[in-house]
Amino acid sequence: MNVVLVAAECAPWSKTGGLGDVAGALPKALARRGHRVMVVAPRYKVYEDVWDTTVRKRYTVNGQDMEVGYFHCYMDGVDYVFIENGAFLHCGDNIYGGSREELVKRCILLCKAAVEAPWHVPCGGVTYGDSNLVFIANDWHTALLPVYLQAYYRDNGLMQFARAVLVLHNMAHQGRSGVDYYRELGLPDQYLENFKLFDPVGGEHMNILMAGIKAAHRLVAVSTGYAWEIQTEEGGWGLHNVIRDSAWKLRGVVNGIDDTEWGPSVDRFLTSDGYCHYDVDTLETGKAQCKAALQKELGLPVRPDVPLLGFIGRLDYQKGVDLIQDAKDWMMQQEIQLVMLGSGREDLENTLRRMEGEHRDKCRGWVGFSVKMAHRITAACDILLMPSRFEPCGLNQLYAMRYGTVPVVHAVGGLRDTVTPFDPYNDAGLGWTFDRADTTGLIHALGNAIYTYREYLSSFRDLQRRGMTQDLSWDAAAAQYEEVMVAAKYQW
Ligand code: GLC
Repeated sequence: MNVVLVAAECAPWSKTGGLGDVAGALPKALARRGHRVMVVAPRYKVYEDVWDTTVRKRYTVNGQDMEVGYFHCYMDGVDYVFIENGAFLHCGDNIYGGSREELVKRCILLCKAAVEAPWHVPCGGVTYGDSNLVFIANDWHTALLPVYLQAYYRDNGLMQFARAVLVLHNMAHQGRSGVDYYRELGLPDQYLENFKLFDPVGGEHMNILMAGIKAAHRLVAVSTGYAWEIQTEEGGWGLHNVIRDSAWKLRGVVNGIDDTEWGPSVDRFLTSDGYCHYDVDTLETGKAQCKAALQKELGLPVRPDVPLLGFIGRLDYQKGVDLIQDAKDWMMQQEIQLVMLGSGREDLENTLRRMEGEHRDKCRGWVGFSVKMAHRITAACDILLMPSRFEPCGLNQLYAMRYGTVPVVHAVGGLRDTVTPFDPYNDAGLGWTFDRADTTGLIHALGNAIYTYREYLSSFRDLQRRGMTQDLSWDAAAAQYEEVMVAAKYQW
């Protein structure tokens, strides 16, 4: 199959969250399965080892004529194409920054340039043909792609056989704006109806994600739990009815992890400062050494006996940081240490700083984002907290399990799919879960985790080993994407 995956971010070049990781890893896994794969993403900076193809094309956005350059590199069996324009370069790290209009404009430009990328960019002299061509768009930023494909390339026979799959990573963001804005998209009038939505939150508005959902040949939600949740009023963020109508073309596929980046025996951030590589056979000594190294690095008392807890993530409502905040008095009374890493809402950032200030012997709050620290915390901790209110898939719990760090999670979305609850009687399960996103639930689950660590260490070790030996690689997920693409191909 010829696959063109399009996303607003792609690791390692650009990343604000899990979407970037997926765009970085899924294409490689598809290429390993023998597909020809191209990734199209914006060029937010000058990237090393990425070449200017000198191809220039002009697209109209918002009535304005814009020129884009196509840049290219070939790596790990994948053709990466970066779309160049001043609008992207101005963002730098702030990918979704600027005004709403500017962001929508960049999304329009990305989609218009991406549909034609397989024509314009000669990859090693080979072009991506029309037959067997499947675009994979991701979230609302690229949800216009299936619409443009239909309106301008399939309806008039230019790319009659191409298909589009839309992956839903997070329904909370939909690209909403006033209906007037429709004109700027440059689409024929007959498509307007697909964009118009009336709901209690937004009133009558234009909804880009909805139009993408309708136009796509197939939909993927990033876990089976999420595929179900988005059909409910609570999880659909106003689009549950649209998703229900499209349920016949929707499938849940749990993300994998990039095991060249994430794994305790390959992790490049564990080779210095006292950290070390380990695997399932050296779990006890290896983890103990990493734990001591982190305690030292962060200036915490070096204590092998206390359970070390970690939290990594955006500091916002979705991630349930406020539940940790409300449980902090209880937590700080326990014999534990807690390390938190993240940035986001200012009040929550201050909470982190305050917790650290008040409990210097037990707590560290690292405000900001550091890839290195994310890896080290994942390796060093005994327990990872993930109290997310909603979590389409979640990657941190998968990374944690790979490193023998036992997750304590709110049973929702992908967290419920991937963390089966510990069953002490049958020596089964992968972590602790709680059913309601409230502080009582969190304390109860966390209390059980700490108790097991203290009193039943051998059961805790078994939990760690079960987590570490799972197959969490992208290969299994890529096989399911393949089935989705085949289904799309036979869908008119
Ligand atoms: C979004 C979701 C997260 C998911 C990621 C990758 O960031 O919030 O749960 O893991 O996308 O699909």
